[in-house]
Amino acid sequence: MTETVHVDLGDRAYDVRIGAGLIARAGAEIAPLLKRPRVWIVTEETVAGLHLAALEAGLRAGGVDSAALILPPGEATKSWPHLIRVVEWLLDQKVERRDMVLAFGGGVIGDLVGFACAILRRGVRFVQVPTSLLAQVDSSVGGKTGINTGHGKNLVGAFHQPSLVLADVGVLGSLPARDFRAGYGEVVKYGLLGDAGFFDWLETNAPAMAKGDLALRAQAVRHSVQMKADIVVRDETEQGDRALLNLGHTFGHALEAATGFSDRLLHGEGVAIGCALAFGLSARLGLCSQEDPSRVRAHLADMGMMRDLSDVPGDLPGADRLLALMAQDKKVVDGQLRFILARGIGEAFVAADVPVEAVQAVLQGR
Ligand code: GLY
Repeated sequence: MTETVHVDLGDRAYDVRIGAGLIARAGAEIAPLLKRPRVWIVTEETVAGLHLAALEAGLRAGGVDSAALILPPGEATKSWPHLIRVVEWLLDQKVERRDMVLAFGGGVIGDLVGFACAILRRGVRFVQVPTSLLAQVDSSVGGKTGINTGHGKNLVGAFHQPSLVLADVGVLGSLPARDFRAGYGEVVKYGLLGDAGFFDWLETNAPAMAKGDLALRAQAVRHSVQMKADIVVRDETEQGDRALLNLGHTFGHALEAATGFSDRLLHGEGVAIGCALAFGLSARLGLCSQEDPSRVRAHLADMGMMRDLSDVPGDLPGADRLLALMAQDKKVVDGQLRFILARGIGEAFVAADVPVEAVQAVLQGR
């Protein structure tokens, strides 16, 4: 069964379709949006090896031709050189403004290709076909696109909404367990930031979901996407509420930077540790009960996930260096770090006046 979450953004509105088997039906799903029956797929080697033939066949079955550009996998692809490569390829292919580009892969491909489409001819349409859990529940929805630079993550980018998102939960079965668990960091984030009932549901159901239950996977993706869509519709360009989606990200991005955006720590792993630290900081500041961070950490432990700084393999820099890395975050306003803190599970809010000593203490494990 396919479910639809509508992202109601007026003339930029679109559907997120969620279900198993959507890649095989991609042509029928996408054809109604096309001005000519051809699309341009940008993907990466791992996803291409596993699923590109199925996507091309699914497009052909709906009468849609395609051409594909295959990039290297990994975070390093979200960079200036690959942005240039994508844009030049699309220009070589004579892609026009009303054509459709498909971003077929995880968050790296979605962010890079979305950004290429934002700047190509001042805006070309694109469809997100996310293949990782992280991309299905978070990065493919809401129109944030961009690349990393030497200065940090996602520092160059644009808001550019997709025309459609096809989240085929069937492909999640081909994810390495570590990637699935990392994506789960973004799922648990939704319960923690705004829906205590969803967090309860995850405590009960997430272990079976991680083992492969497709119905539970579809349910978790749908609920996460609905929560994200509701927030994005309220605050598309992050003037307020959308910042809640960054729960765990200020800590997480600093940890990712400290580990060189490498395999030592995947984005969702950084977010999971970041959520545990955000609850630790909230408890230290007397905002939530001491039990809340323990409950968060116990659930992450149940899911076999990292939850403490000491879980990150290898040495980490000290608290001062981690704080300096946080200061480069986009969430800095007037030089002040903004954190997403919580008054309890499901009750996050944006805090602009967090004492630096409290952050230091949490980073030092005091
Ligand atoms: N990933 C956070 C956002 O889309 O706002």
